[in-house]
Amino acid sequence: MPGTSGVQAGPRPRRNSDSVWPPRRSIRQSVARIGVFSWVLTALLVVDVGATPHAAAASTLQAHGALQREAAPAIVSHRGAALLAPENTLAGIEAAVQTGADFVEIDLRRTQDGRAILMHDPTLDRTTNGMGWVREYTLGQIRSMDAGSDFDPAFAGERVPTFEEAAAVLAPAPVAVLIELKDDWSDAQLVPVIEHLRDRQMVNRVVLQSFNLATMEALQRVAPEFARALLTRELGDEIVDLALDLGVSCVGAKGALFAAVPGAVERLRAEGLGVAVYTLNSPDEWQFAADSGIDLIITDDPAALRAWHRDRASAAQSTPQ
Ligand code: G3P
Repeated sequence: MPGTSGVQAGPRPRRNSDSVWPPRRSIRQSVARIGVFSWVLTALLVVDVGATPHAAAASTLQAHGALQREAAPAIVSHRGAALLAPENTLAGIEAAVQTGADFVEIDLRRTQDGRAILMHDPTLDRTTNGMGWVREYTLGQIRSMDAGSDFDPAFAGERVPTFEEAAAVLAPAPVAVLIELKDDWSDAQLVPVIEHLRDRQMVNRVVLQSFNLATMEALQRVAPEFARALLTRELGDEIVDLALDLGVSCVGAKGALFAAVPGAVERLRAEGLGVAVYTLNSPDEWQFAADSGIDLIITDDPAALRAWHRDRASAAQSTPQ
């Protein structure tokens, strides 16, 4: 736009037989310029690759519709398997895998010394024999607490797992993983988690999710090749737009919200997004989810949901056409 750049455009030199525009350069000048150009291009590529070394290997779960299910909703075992074992423990993860769940969902928080651990609540009170804010205790202190007895004395001695311990159990298991980042995570705080998942070759089996917008934006920068899910407490066109802006593959919300906003599931699915619902533990609720076209059911009782799926499938087979 004239006058906005501060750079005045001078008269363009006219061509004539005595002057050539652009002026001719010597071969030596041209070679020098090509050399400088190549060096700058290489430097830019190195900087760019350094910023996004994984850009070439997008997760298969990122593809349009990859988290949609046409036959029956996928089974997502909640907080490990919250009805079968103490939540967010290795025992819970193992129980979930045993049921044949499609996904295991876990929650991550950070300790005072910056370690990622499996923990849903911001405090230790409900799920351990300790008390207080998770963020005020070191990993060593939290590891000394019992995370099993309150659930059932049979689980006494169960510890709060580190993220790395959970990944070691999940990496060889035939299951996908839904990881919820609780509260806000900066790019730097996410990097060790994301690098660990990459090192364990789990990119194609992990979906990263959060309610927290800043965390979702950080994930978009730090983990662009991973499938990501937006958790929301409201549904509407602005959430569809936000999901598309964030580049997520799935949107998750509680069952009552889907019931209150008819058409929301169809609207999200029309964009190729998977739709997840939490936390449904009864056959009536599972039926609602299946009838609504929801793709992933998050449940505390993956064994019962699996049995329900089996019963429905055999009832459908035995129904005369
Ligand atoms: O995966 C979504 C679901 O777990 C969200 O609910 O309360 O368990 O974090 P909450």
